Amino acid sequence: MPHITTHHKIFQLQTGETLLEGLERTGHEVEYQCRSGYCGSCRVKILQGRVDYDELPLAFVAPGEVLPCCCKVVEDITLDCRVHKGEADLFDVDLFQS
Ligand code: FES
Repeated sequence: MPHITTHHKIFQLQTGETLLEGLERTGHEVEYQCRSGYCGSCRVKILQGRVDYDELPLAFVAPGEVLPCCCKVVEDITLDCRVHKGEADLFDVDLFQS
């Protein structure tokens, strides 16, 4: 199973998981809308390696980019992708601390 390396993590996909789902599971920040290759919202830069597509996606994919919702990871890849920075949760902070 190929390894996926980002700026913050190295992980492998689980059986049947798309790259988009794997990135979400590991806490990465990836935009998405259609989740099926139409909109291009999930576009991510690939820094190393390559991916395949069962069918060419309808969304434009520039050289050096992948659509994680519909690509197939066929070898180790490195993506320009970062873990989601959690926003401060107001309920975790005691606002009335004296
Ligand atoms: S989410 Fe629309 S192309 Fe990936």
